[in-house]
This record gives sequence, structure tokens and C-alpha cells, in this order.
Amino acid sequence: MVKQDSKSLMIQASGLTHYYGPYAAIEDVNFGVERGEVLGFLGPNGAGKTTTMRILTGYMPPTRGKVTLDGFDIVEQSLEVRRRVGYLPETVPLYTDMPVNSYLKYMGTLRQMPPKAIKRRISEVIDVCRLGDYRSTLIGKLSKGFRQRVGIAQAILHEPEVLVLDEPTIGIDPIQVVETRRLIQELGREQTVVLSTHILPEVSMICDRVLIISEGKIVAEDTPENLAERLKGSEQMEVEIGGPVSQVLPALRALKGVASASHQSSHGKEIYTIQANEGQDLRDEISRTVIGAGWSLLSMQTMGMSLEEIFLKLTTHEEL
Ligand SMILES: Nc1ncnc2c1ncn2[C@@H]1O[C@H](COP(=O)(O)OP(=O)(O)OP(=O)(O)O)[C@@H](O)[C@H]1O
Ligand SMILES: [Mg+2]
Repeated sequence: MVKQDSKSLMIQASGLTHYYGPYAAIEDVNFGVERGEVLGFLGPNGAGKTTTMRILTGYMPPTRGKVTLDGFDIVEQSLEVRRRVGYLPETVPLYTDMPVNSYLKYMGTLRQMPPKAIKRRISEVIDVCRLGDYRSTLIGKLSKGFRQRVGIAQAILHEPEVLVLDEPTIGIDPIQVVETRRLIQELGREQTVVLSTHILPEVSMICDRVLIISEGKIVAEDTPENLAERLKGSEQMEVEIGGPVSQVLPALRALKGVASASHQSSHGKEIYTIQANEGQDLRDEISRTVIGAGWSLLSMQTMGMSLEEIFLKLTTHEEL
């Protein structure tokens, strides 16, 4: 087997475009994934995350463009690609009337793994995915979070070098979300992982790098830290201050680093909404000012930006 274009990148996608009928779900998407990297696709509903992942895994060919995985072309050498990829699809086609271990055995057979390897790997993945108490349970009787773990178990069964996980934590309870993220982090130490999510903090926790995808295009690409830094500018705070509004409001507005401040009374509380300038952390300054003037600082809260706001900012204000 001749490898094409074997660079150090594990995945290289160039000019990816996919049409569903006349509609372009993704257009001219380009990115690379380093070996051992954990890359996150962050984007709202309909952005094109699932479409991109289906292409990466060889599940469907792109209308235009090219992807290589470990140097193999995903269309021309799809068998080689499939061997190297584990895929957790958006909706996992689990057989609800099969017990967990039979299902995994079936998936191993489908992938033409040798019987000995199947046996060894089932016991390993059951361990890794903490499914030990459920190996004989019918999949249909498992909770959503545990089904998701079975989905991950089947994705890693054949020891793929690349894992593609489509919204691995969607629809599961907070405790299982924490567990699943921990599991992905563990897997990410050994493997190359591409995952998609709507959740910004999730990428910060798990990913080395983030691609923000919106309306079928990549609108930003950065480390979670840099992304957070770039977005800090529009950080907003809500502060409750006890003191005369006619003095507090001008004092806040006079602070260096405050872009704007407004006031409203709510149930006898004086609430100030403060917008900080790019990259400014005003908490210290605000508390010193308030206390120095003899007023009381009753609460201070930073308002995280919603994903929508981030998209708006990235798609309308940034030159990329
Ligand atoms: N099989 C299909 N036939 C027609 N249009 C499709 C099909 N699958 C997806 N689309 C459209 O392509 C666009 C991208 O969809 P895709 O599923 O890739 O988005 P996504 O980012 O995964 O969204 P979500 O966060 O909701 O899962 C959407 O506008 C969607 O309606
Ligand atoms: Mg999707």
C-alpha cells in the first residue's frame, strides 16, 4: 500500500465542500490535526460539524476536496482509513436487544479483528469505559450516559489511532458528563482525537486546539486559552453596591478599563452592569474603589458570554 502525501500531520483536510442537494453544508474547509492532538469542533446547530466528521471517518465522500488520514486518502484508501479510525456518531446505532459484551463482540467481528484480540480488547474497553457492572445488561436497559459509554467502547475497540467523537457528552447527566470528559482526556493522551461540541467550557477542558465552525465555514482557530483571551474583551460584570447611585455610577465610569456602566434598581438592590475594555480584569479595582469610598460591595458576578455572543463577535468583528 502506497501512502499518499505522508506528512507529520495525522489528518489533513483541504478544500472540503459538501452539498446535500443544492445546499452547501460545508464549504472550503481546511484544517490539519497533529498526531496526538485533541481537536475540538465548536459550532451551533447546523454549522456542519457532523457533516465534516462523517467525511473524516470515510462514512461519506465529500462533494469536493481531499482528506488524508495518516497519509491515506479517505476516498481512495477508505479501508486503510477505517482501520485507523474509531467513530462515535451523533446517534449511535446500538442494538438495544443485545447485551453489552455481545454487541462489542459483534462489532469486533464486523471489523475482522482476530477472535483472541476481540476477547482481550472487550475486557480492556469494558474496564476503560467503566462498564464492568453492565457487561451482561441489555443495551436497551442502559441509561443514556451508559449507552454513550458503550458507543465510546465500540469506537476504541479496534485500537484506532484516531478517534472521532460527535458530541460525546450531549444529553447525559452532569455527573456522567464529568466522567465522559475524564475518559476522553485519558484517551487523548495516547490517541489523536477530534470531537464536536456546542459547549465552550468543554473544549477548554479537553482540547488542545479549537476550530469554530459556523454556517459551514471555519471562522476561528486557536487554543482554548487564546480564544478565551481574545473574547475577554466583552466581559461583562454585574455588581451590587450599597451607596448613593449618583456617586457610585460616575465613580465606576471613571475607572480605567471600564467601557461602560449602567444602573438599575431591582427589589431594593442597586445593580450596576459594567462592560470592561479588551482584556481588562476589573474586579480588584472595583472592590478597592467601592470600599475606599466607604460604600459596600454586596456581590460581584462576571457574566460569561453565551456561545451566540461569541459567534457574533467572531463572525462580525474579527478579521481572520
Ligand atoms: N442528510 C442531510 N440531508 C440534507 N441536509 C442535511 C443532511 N444532513 C445535514 N444537513 C444540513 O446540513 C447542515 C449541516 O448539518 P450538520 O448535521 O453537519 O450540522 P451540525 O454542526 O452537526 O449540527 P448539530 O449541532 O445540530 O448536530 C444543516 O443545515 C443541515 O440541515
Ligand atoms: Mg451534528
